[in-house]
Amino acid sequence: MPHSRRIDAAVTRALQGAQGGAAPKQLSEALAYACLPGGARIRPTILLAVAAACGDDRPVLSDAAAAALELIHCASLVHDDLPCFDDADLRRGKPSVHRAYSEPLAVLTGDSLIILAFEVLGQAAGADAARAAQLILSLARRTGMPHGICAGQGWESEAEVDLAAYHRSKTGALFIAATEMGAISAGHEAEPWRDLGALIGEAFQVADDLRDAVLDEQTLGKPVGQDDLHGRPNAVAAYGVDGAVARLKDILAGAIASIPSCPGEAQLAEMVRLQAQAIMPKMPARYRA
Ligand code: IPE
Ligand code: IPE
Ligand code: MG
Repeated sequence: MPHSRRIDAAVTRALQGAQGGAAPKQLSEALAYACLPGGARIRPTILLAVAAACGDDRPVLSDAAAAALELIHCASLVHDDLPCFDDADLRRGKPSVHRAYSEPLAVLTGDSLIILAFEVLGQAAGADAARAAQLILSLARRTGMPHGICAGQGWESEAEVDLAAYHRSKTGALFIAATEMGAISAGHEAEPWRDLGALIGEAFQVADDLRDAVLDEQTLGKPVGQDDLHGRPNAVAAYGVDGAVARLKDILAGAIASIPSCPGEAQLAEMVRLQAQAIMPKMPARYRA
C-alpha cells in the first residue's frame, strides 16, 4: 500500500477511536476537521520511508507511529493558529479550527489530538512493548520541553532568541521524531538516524521561510508574510532569497550523505530527493534571473 494511504488509514482509525460513544459532537467533528484531509503529510511519509529502509518488520508499530506523529503535527498547527499565537484565519485552504468552531474548541482539539497520539502508541504496545515504549519517549521528547515544539513556540516569547535552538525545536524536532520513530518501529537504534531528521528539518524550515516570503496566500492555502509580520527571525531575512535557496540545497545534500547504512539506503536517498523537490517552492517570475 502506498505510504499516503497507510497514513490516511492510520490517522482515520485513530480519530474513530476518539469519536465514539456519547462524546461532544462539535469537538468530535473538530478533531477530524483538523486532520482530514491532511496537508503534505511529510513527517509520517519520512517515518514510513525510514521504517521501510530498516525492514519494517512490525507494520502495526510503524502505522501507529506515523499516525501519532501526524496527530501531534496537526495539534501544533491548531494551537499555532490561535489568536494568542499567530492569529491565523486560514489553514490548508480552509478556515482554521478556531474560526470554523471556536477558540475553546480549538484549544481542546489540540489537547485531545496530543493525548490521542500517545494513546495510539500505548495501544500499539501489544505488538512490541519495548519498541512502543521507545516510540512514546521519542515523541514526548520531540513534542515537549526542553527540546520539542513546545520549546520552539516558547522561544517566540523571549526577548533574545537563539535562532538555531528556535528552529531546531520548532520545526526540526518533529523531523527528528520522524526518522527516530521510523527506525524504532523496525527495531533499529534511533541515535544514528537523528542527523538525517535534523537536517531534513533544517531544510524544511528554510523552504518554509522561502514559501512565506515569496508565495501568495492562494497558492499556499494559509497566510503569507507571517515571519515579517511577527518579526520572526528567518532564513530569507538572514541570507536573502538566493542565499536561502543555496543554503537549502546544501543542507539537503548533507541530509542524503548522512543516511546510515541500512538495507533500503538507496531507495531512502531517492525518497529524500523527491521530498526535497516537493518542498522547494516554485519561484514566482519576479525572483527568477
Ligand atoms: C507547516 O508544516 C508548519 C511548519 C512547521 C512550518 P507543513 O507545511 O508540513 O504543513 P501541512 O501538514 O503540509 O499542512
Ligand atoms: C507552525 O509554525 C507551528 C509549529 C511548528 C509548531 P509557523 O507559524 O512558522 O508555520 P505556519 O506558517 O503557521 O504553517
Ligand atoms: Mg503559524
